[in-house]
Amino acid sequence: MANLLSYVLFLALRAYAAPPEYIQRWPDGFTPAPGDPSNDSVTPSLIPPPGSSKHPPHSIIIGVRKGGTRALLEMLDIHPEVAAAATEVHFFDWDENYSKGFDWYREQMPYSYPTQITIEKTPGYFTSQVAPARIHAMNSSIRLLLILRDPTERVISDYTQVYFNRLENHKPVQAIENMLVKNGALNTRYKAIQRSLYDVHMRNWLQHFPLEQIHIVDGDTLIHDPLPELQRVERFLDLPPRIEASNFYFNQTKGFYCIRSDGHERCLHESKGRPHPPVNSNVLRQLRSYLRQHNRNFYRLIGRTFNWQ
Ligand code: A3P
Repeated sequence: MANLLSYVLFLALRAYAAPPEYIQRWPDGFTPAPGDPSNDSVTPSLIPPPGSSKHPPHSIIIGVRKGGTRALLEMLDIHPEVAAAATEVHFFDWDENYSKGFDWYREQMPYSYPTQITIEKTPGYFTSQVAPARIHAMNSSIRLLLILRDPTERVISDYTQVYFNRLENHKPVQAIENMLVKNGALNTRYKAIQRSLYDVHMRNWLQHFPLEQIHIVDGDTLIHDPLPELQRVERFLDLPPRIEASNFYFNQTKGFYCIRSDGHERCLHESKGRPHPPVNSNVLRQLRSYLRQHNRNFYRLIGRTFNWQ
């Protein structure tokens, strides 16, 4: 009976073509009755759907933090041949996780069917000194996805995320100008600014991977017109074209595109797409002019330009 149930669930999952999740199997002889309080005292065991297994990723979204990494992963997950890891794994950038080894890493991946590719995203990889060499050691031909947005906007988005995290944890917060300016000059050591030096981080990656293996997604375009960016990613990953205009709809309340897939509609979590604080215009000018040269260096490195201010 349990096997039959597993099989029916397996077929249903395949019909929806979503990445397989664990199937709940109740202990033999126990059939949960709706509303029966004794259900709570019996725990189902979790078994993988038949025919599925876990694999190291075929592709990794390496960053950049606040570039739109969650939107990119969720939108790619629409594709029936993509199985996306649910959480950020931080395997290659955190020594504590890296020391657990590749078997541990594979365990963090979702179950996938043979027709699917596995993708994980950890935005911290892009700015990590050690991640490129470690990823290369695992799979030198892996395809990397890097989503970038205007680096000035990224700094403000980074500040906004930390601001709200600190508020939630009842920690004191500072105005953005206090973070951006120190002793009357731009505080170039501020982590949020450091993370926006795309040329510095990209140079590190290009020491280990050829440019052709790193597909850059325009995070600003993804916000306003997601489909063409997703189609470029499909081509880069050699996936058949399956993501369509009907998979997206603009949500006026959120002010962003949301996802329609398998008959469900969903927007990203409320922490994605928060309003940014206004920034003193002088400080903003200093920040922009500091990042300008780094942007030019970056354009030269990748042989492509963006409309960053
Ligand atoms: P803001 O919250 O500053 O607007 P990440 O997932 O890498 O942390 O990136 C978060 C950013 O993704 C958000 O930054 C938002 O601008 C961007 N984003 C892109 N597409 C989005 C979407 N459809 N819904 C919400 N946020 C989206």
